[in-house]
Amino acid sequence: MVASDLEHYYTFLQEAIGANAYGRFPEDRDIDRSSALQYAAAEIKNIIAKKESRFIESKSSDGAVDGLLVFRQSAWDSSHFGFPVVLVDSVLCKYSEYTQRYDVCARMVSDFAAICKSEGIRLVMSKSSSQDLALIHACEHVGFQFIESWIYNKIDLRKFKVNPEMLIPLRSATDGDMEVMQRFAWNSFATQRFHADKRIPYDKAEELYQKWIATSFADERQKVLVHDVDGKPAAFSIYFTTDLTAQFGLKFTNWKLALIDPEIQGKGLGALFFHSLFAYHQAEGSDVVDSGLTLRNIASLNLHNKLQFKVTSTLVSMHLWL
Ligand SMILES: CC(C)(COP(=O)(O)OP(=O)(O)OC[C@H]1O[C@@H](n2cnc3c(N)ncnc32)[C@H](O)[C@@H]1OP(=O)(O)O)[C@@H](O)C(=O)NCCC(=O)NCCS
Repeated sequence: MVASDLEHYYTFLQEAIGANAYGRFPEDRDIDRSSALQYAAAEIKNIIAKKESRFIESKSSDGAVDGLLVFRQSAWDSSHFGFPVVLVDSVLCKYSEYTQRYDVCARMVSDFAAICKSEGIRLVMSKSSSQDLALIHACEHVGFQFIESWIYNKIDLRKFKVNPEMLIPLRSATDGDMEVMQRFAWNSFATQRFHADKRIPYDKAEELYQKWIATSFADERQKVLVHDVDGKPAAFSIYFTTDLTAQFGLKFTNWKLALIDPEIQGKGLGALFFHSLFAYHQAEGSDVVDSGLTLRNIASLNLHNKLQFKVTSTLVSMHLWL
């Protein structure tokens, strides 16, 4: 879609975001609300402007846009799973009242499912804010299945104080570390999203982690930190950074994957590793660490709680098989 075609969505976008301001920044009470809404609008405009994005539009009786569903086929997922996979990137609606919102979302999601079916799509993956019950119920109405609840939580590094007794040495990963991390990863993520969908073969879910780790090692925007025990890698963290100084006056460290050697999990290393990562990111000049985890990962959830992460937003993942 070209910029001039986008123009007619812009008024609608402001209304839709104002009516349902959910997500990482709008729900964070430490972030200025109008800056968060502005950033949310900019993010959605970027998604809409992507050339592979497609749309389902809803209009009210006066002809004004009152709902928009943005989706795209994922080449990466389709190739990995061996059948066509579609991702729902965003579902917007300008009403906040439950019934009006449900009706608009249900219409759009039904039309969308019919299009996917007619095009031979096998799997649709969608994430919604846990607050958006009207959308979640509309998805259930056409047969989406609940897969997992996800939470985003954060550590404010501006308030973090290093405890020297909890510091352990960290180093940047080298190419030779990748295979060790991939070995540790096998069977370590059984509580995650793709394992929760029983139609996805177990090995296909496991292979995703192998690929994500390989991609992260190859991508210079992502960094991998390691802690060694007895001269061998024992703990890994993959992360990247997002500079939002212009938007919020803050620099973020986004954790992607943390992993302790399965042989020594549950013995206290995770807590020391996370604490040392905070100190490392603080020294790098970061203000906030953002981390995300599934509610089924009780060990990680307890570890995040122990280290006083604060929840910023919560999501629900759903899959639709056609
Ligand atoms: C999650 C993980 C990083 C935790 O590291 P760890 O070294 O096992 O954790 P620790 O021994 O330092 O334990 C820290 C806290 O986590 C919680 N915890 C650890 N293992 C737990 C378990 N099996 N069940 C419930 N809580 C657990 C506890 O609250 C514990 O503190 P406490 O003993 O004072 O109560 C590690 O288990 C791991 O790598 N798991 C597989 C990959 C993964 O899930 N990564 C995180 C994705 S977000």
